[in-house]
Amino acid sequence: MEKNKLKEILNTLSLKEKIAQTVQLNGDLFTDSGVMPTGPLKDLGLPDNFDIHQVGSIYNVNDPEKLRMIQEQAINKSSHGIPLLFMSDIIYGFRTIFPLPLAQAGSYDFDLIQKAAEITAKESYLSGIHCVFSPMLDVVRDPRWGRVMESPGEDIYTGKEYAKSVVTGYQGQVKDYVSENHVAACIKHFAAYGAPEAGREYSTVDMSNQRLFNEYLPTYQAAIEAHALLVMTAFNVLNGIPSTGNKWLNRDILREKFNFSGLLVSDHSATEELQAHGFTANQEESAKASIEAGVDFDMMTSVYANGLEPLILSGKVDEALLDEAVWRILKLKNKLGLFENPFRGLDQENTGEFLTAEAKETAVELVEKSCVLLKNKENALPLSTQQKIAVIGPYGKSKFTLGFWASVSGKAQDTVTLKEGLENNFAKKNLTFATGYNLFDSYESFGPLKTGIEHLNGPIGDEKELIEEAVEVAGNSDVILLTIGEQFLESGEGASKAKLSLPDKQIRLIKALAQLDKPIIGLLYTGRPLVLTEIEPYFSSLLLVWYPGTMGGAGIANLLSGQASPSAKLTMTFPRSEGQIPIYYAQNTTGRPLNEENKNTRFVSKYSDESNEPLYAFGTGLTYNQVDVKWLENMENLTFTESNQIKLAYQLENLSNETSHAVVHLYMRDMAASIVQPFRKLVASQFIKIEPSTKEELAVTLTKEDLSFSDNQGEWHFESGKFGFYLVAYGQEEELIISL
Ligand code: BGC
Repeated sequence: MEKNKLKEILNTLSLKEKIAQTVQLNGDLFTDSGVMPTGPLKDLGLPDNFDIHQVGSIYNVNDPEKLRMIQEQAINKSSHGIPLLFMSDIIYGFRTIFPLPLAQAGSYDFDLIQKAAEITAKESYLSGIHCVFSPMLDVVRDPRWGRVMESPGEDIYTGKEYAKSVVTGYQGQVKDYVSENHVAACIKHFAAYGAPEAGREYSTVDMSNQRLFNEYLPTYQAAIEAHALLVMTAFNVLNGIPSTGNKWLNRDILREKFNFSGLLVSDHSATEELQAHGFTANQEESAKASIEAGVDFDMMTSVYANGLEPLILSGKVDEALLDEAVWRILKLKNKLGLFENPFRGLDQENTGEFLTAEAKETAVELVEKSCVLLKNKENALPLSTQQKIAVIGPYGKSKFTLGFWASVSGKAQDTVTLKEGLENNFAKKNLTFATGYNLFDSYESFGPLKTGIEHLNGPIGDEKELIEEAVEVAGNSDVILLTIGEQFLESGEGASKAKLSLPDKQIRLIKALAQLDKPIIGLLYTGRPLVLTEIEPYFSSLLLVWYPGTMGGAGIANLLSGQASPSAKLTMTFPRSEGQIPIYYAQNTTGRPLNEENKNTRFVSKYSDESNEPLYAFGTGLTYNQVDVKWLENMENLTFTESNQIKLAYQLENLSNETSHAVVHLYMRDMAASIVQPFRKLVASQFIKIEPSTKEELAVTLTKEDLSFSDNQGEWHFESGKFGFYLVAYGQEEELIISL
């Protein structure tokens, strides 16, 4: 629709109709005929006659038929026929569920990540979804927080690259319209939601502007520069002001500084929670604070629905603020082509378009490239096809490997289990299975889903019998493949933990199996870094598989058999103990850094009861083969070109007779700066493939911007001086110090 026609619509809307556009509710609350039963109406504090024409958007309905019916009702009931916007929590896959974002990011294959996002967009589009509530771009450095699984991790460079790939994959190249098979991206949670105090969900965030601008805002900004169309506010207080009512954050920084012209949606009930935070005294004040802070959509409360009208009629809020919000909402609906086709995506003949061969292949590749080989003593991996393998632990057969958010649209039934994957790569006669321990202690909490879950996961067993059976099965094998970790409800939203070690029942099983004195290969299923210090010595090898998604079993089996080689890097540090948290690689050195010479003295920066080092640092990730890495000659003489670039060139030499895939990381250190810079900072990565017995020359180009840092006002500066560059791959680190 042309802009002037859209403006005409805005100009003819009544106050009530405009307010309706800003209301976003969970679509499940509405019946197919677009009305809301009295229970939910009362809970939300909405008036009795409230129905679908009083909302602008619904979320988390993924059933095309229901969406069609609701859209029909909305259009018929609205005097201007304005269609609803459909949003959904599609975080790492719609029907084809890919590995968790924390895992995907570690592949450092950003083209592949973009492809996975394109597939997710297409499957969402074909289900009638217009916009997805992702990517989550909160930098995370505290594994006690359950939502780390949704984030690309602790590193800024990694988060920025992930942000660009996912936003571009979802939206395609947006000119005037979001094209067919694509959806709008809603990045979240603005801002710094990933740094809650003590890792406790929804807790306060307090950080310096230096840290905010340098470390926590750049990932969101990268997504905005990649044209993300929506942003979601965060639940937390940031430096004393809740994000949802924070004018400085949402207007001065997001809109003015980052030039964001899209739509700002509050997180679920966050407008209402302004009162619980102690920031507003009542619903009316919450509505005022949110609209003044530039929040366009109010998700899942009656704050705007009830609060805006009296505020505007009494002159306490300028109607222009509402007009601004509604204009942004109408523009987004128009960008999605909803005025021309409110049934966008729903009018397709969809059969066969989900979980296509291409989607499955992409998912398998992403599993192979995102599982991290943490340990491989005496090259216990890959396994030989001659070995008798005892697969112990519930993840041998379980289909619950999709992770917390996949329950919104994914189907556990689709999952390729580890057993199915292994049976494809190894002779069935060499594989035996035992459950080992209960993945879920009880099914009661699943309510009506209980029977289905039990059917897919198997009955709950007696611990003693499970261990005995496991030891017996393992006793007849050459090697034990043991699946350990968390179950999917232990991470995700509302899943903070103070203890990060494995449950005792798993530790008891590991110790019982260790008595057999056979190599134990651990497969770690988890949504967060765990504390594995106690059990790590029992394992010959450890492969971190995260929650690998629909095709998990196939990708993992390819890695175990050596058909694929691991290449991924950890995007989040695994601590040795909880007391080290927050622990991340890009720390400042301190004035008294710990080193070999001073390690036995008192007044240095260290713990008296624990090492300073993590168990597995950011960037850890072994491969099956070895390649030599070195800088090319004369790199010390580099200077900036006229366009302010430097080109760092290096050589790889594959001495083995196998093709090698790996990730090369390039870190830097600004040796002396007016604001102290981290000891190491990742500035580039390359996913490489190098043929057997070959040498290859590669290069990374950096700009002055890549070497700069922000001041406390968010202005970036380059300061000349000495810089260290560190090329890291295949367990080697090559240093280069230059003056720039
Ligand atoms: C989460 C968001 C999510 C929203 C809608 C909130 O609780 O924080 O990330 O998109 O719910 O389901």
